[in-house]
Amino acid sequence: MIIVKGLQKIYKQKRNGRLVAEIKAVDGIDFEVARGEFFGLLGPNGAGKTTTIGILTTRVLPTGGIALIDGIDVMRDPVAVKRRIGVVPQANNLDRSLTGRENLLFHAEYFGIDKRTRERRAAELLDLFQLSERADEKVSVYSGGMAQRLKIARALMHDPAILFLDEPTTGLDPQSRHALWQMLFELNARGQTIFLTTHYMEEADRLCQRVAIMDHGKLIALDTPSNLKRSVPGGYLIELRVRAAEELLSSLSTALRKLPNVVDVHSMDGLIRLYANRSEGLLADAVRLANERGVLITDAHVAEPSLETLFLHLTGRSLRE
Ligand SMILES: Nc1ncnc2c1ncn2[C@@H]1O[C@H](COP(=O)(O)OP(=O)(O)OP(=O)(O)O)[C@@H](O)[C@H]1O
Ligand SMILES: [Mg+2]
Repeated sequence: MIIVKGLQKIYKQKRNGRLVAEIKAVDGIDFEVARGEFFGLLGPNGAGKTTTIGILTTRVLPTGGIALIDGIDVMRDPVAVKRRIGVVPQANNLDRSLTGRENLLFHAEYFGIDKRTRERRAAELLDLFQLSERADEKVSVYSGGMAQRLKIARALMHDPAILFLDEPTTGLDPQSRHALWQMLFELNARGQTIFLTTHYMEEADRLCQRVAIMDHGKLIALDTPSNLKRSVPGGYLIELRVRAAEELLSSLSTALRKLPNVVDVHSMDGLIRLYANRSEGLLADAVRLANERGVLITDAHVAEPSLETLFLHLTGRSLRE
């Protein structure tokens, strides 16, 4: 459904007509998405997710590489690509002066869908996204969650082969987010191919069959969520915030490294990260070793294997920072 090879986007920043900087927003990425797949692009702010989706949906021109949607080159035939894709952008671009139903009908009319078909399809999608009761109210009175559901319904009105969603649950409360996850899950179960970007690792983990992790314009990992989580050496992470002199900390790190099941220990700026194959009893051992050396622990956190841990392992930074 999607083939991407060596895709690149360099933004040139000019001041007074002179080039001052080049930003490699997308820096030579490759991936494929199969028909029927639910595929996720996970990465922190500025990773290049929106630029990538922009290229795949013909809104941004790449500066290198190729991207095919359903076998069609996005650069050569953007019009044909547009007919096959549904796009839910990051920003709210609904017409607030129209009702929910009218937003759907006008979109379908623009795509040349006949009146009977578009009315039937609008009713089906309003039902699927639990908007039927409020369908004839103006969008200006919709909640954030309702507006987001309507944006997705609208993107599906012309029956696209693939649905693109850019950070669909950002800004939603946890309840609306979970409701939306359920709807997207059902949509995919009915056969809809979905490409989603997110910076929520839980969203990628729960929804996507495969996840590509993006950072600074590059793909740093791509696999099923369970394989990705398994790939972290010592997937359990214990973080200790500590206060003590440098030599005490390095003595503590050395002692922590010798504990059973500990795979790796990093110590930086008063934060010790312990990667281990299991976590039982480990925190107690770590606290004991710290006490013996007079190292004060001000905060401790234990995490199960997660995509967050993988990102931390690959980049040394947190996805959430
Ligand atoms: N039109 C533009 N002109 C110049 N630089 C841009 C432009 N659009 C994006 N960038 C830069 O390209 C990089 C990638 O941005 P992009 O919006 O693709 O990231 P993102 O992963 O979607 O981030 P976010 O999570 O904040 O939405 C950033 O450094 C951004 O500042
Ligand atoms: Mg973005």
